[in-house]
Amino acid sequence: MSNMKTIAAVACAGAALLPAASARAEGTIKVGLVAEFSGPFAGYGKQIQNGIKAYMKQHGDTVAGKKVELVLKDTTGPSPEIAKRLAQDLITHDKVDFIAGFGLTPNALAVAPLATQAKTPMIIMNAASSIITTKSPYVARFSMTLPQVTEPIALWSAKNGIKKVFTIVSDYAPGIDAENAFLKSFSAQGGQVVGSVRVPLRNPDFAPFVQRAKDAKPDAVFIFVPAGEQGIAFVKAFTERGLQKAGIKLIGPGDVVDDDVLEAMGEPTLGIITTHHYSAAHDSPENAAFRKAYAEANGEGTRPNFMAVAGYDGIAAIYEVAKKLEGKMDADRAMEVIKGMKLTSPRGPIQIDPETRDIVQTVYVRRVERVKGGLYNVEFDKFPDVKDPGKTAP
Ligand code: PHB
Repeated sequence: MSNMKTIAAVACAGAALLPAASARAEGTIKVGLVAEFSGPFAGYGKQIQNGIKAYMKQHGDTVAGKKVELVLKDTTGPSPEIAKRLAQDLITHDKVDFIAGFGLTPNALAVAPLATQAKTPMIIMNAASSIITTKSPYVARFSMTLPQVTEPIALWSAKNGIKKVFTIVSDYAPGIDAENAFLKSFSAQGGQVVGSVRVPLRNPDFAPFVQRAKDAKPDAVFIFVPAGEQGIAFVKAFTERGLQKAGIKLIGPGDVVDDDVLEAMGEPTLGIITTHHYSAAHDSPENAAFRKAYAEANGEGTRPNFMAVAGYDGIAAIYEVAKKLEGKMDADRAMEVIKGMKLTSPRGPIQIDPETRDIVQTVYVRRVERVKGGLYNVEFDKFPDVKDPGKTAP
């Protein structure tokens, strides 16, 4: 009876009323996919979903005797309130076994407390600010973190004659993570950050920031913008303001030269060096099979990006959990299976750190080149087994 009272009180207070795992559907494994399917970040939802489709094309839509059912929910952009409402709906109404997706950090941060409250494993398929996995013991990340993919470019640049850098980042958690990680690692190598600006997340006009960077006369501009359309706008401003002509290089984590928009950016990207965890040009049998399944599932000529591969690996992890638990889903047991999980991803070997539930993976150094008529990030060096350095920063 006292339980009833508590429930009534919570309901009256208008707070979330979330059932325990036992009430969930039988015969299916339900995965609620919360992502950006419309608006300026619509490419994120599309790539994540397409990566999942590629996995299901290869492995079928049943595992451990249960049908895997996806329930799609559109956050429409960086909208924490919407993300939270959608996740709540998936938990209470659809009774999902997992919540997954999350292209953007603000959406993931808004939902993490619900994962704890409802005891629902939450599989991050892109959102990359370091802090996310600390927000709930039910969060595991299959994408990357900004410090993880930024430190390698700082080390590589310092070793390759770049001494002065001007940094430009989006003014939200992932951008600030990137700015801090670059400053820390580059300075530790004797490099100098000669100026830093943060640009708005929504509709940034890059021209004045790029001009400031040019005026500071650095050897290179470090850039982090969320992948997609903003990369196109940034590279355009960089080219129009004549930075390449002035001998200033463009460096950063690979988001700016996202595979999804690389062709649209064209010639000015040739030669850009970045570090990242996935390139569509990654040379391995697993990636060749992934590219084939991706094209079969999503159309000839389509190209997966790093969000697609995280969608692919995230759903692979869900299948692994289902197999290990013989279809009897349980949040705590699922998390135990995920902690320490190792997969051979299309990007290379990956592992989930059992302590942080964050991904450990190889980060590659790549250069944009023309390959068989298309523009690709061609990998030429690598940093194996990189953990998220953001968690150990002071
Ligand atoms: C994020 O919001 O966490 C995010 C979005 C796009 C990226 C990287 C990180 O390219």
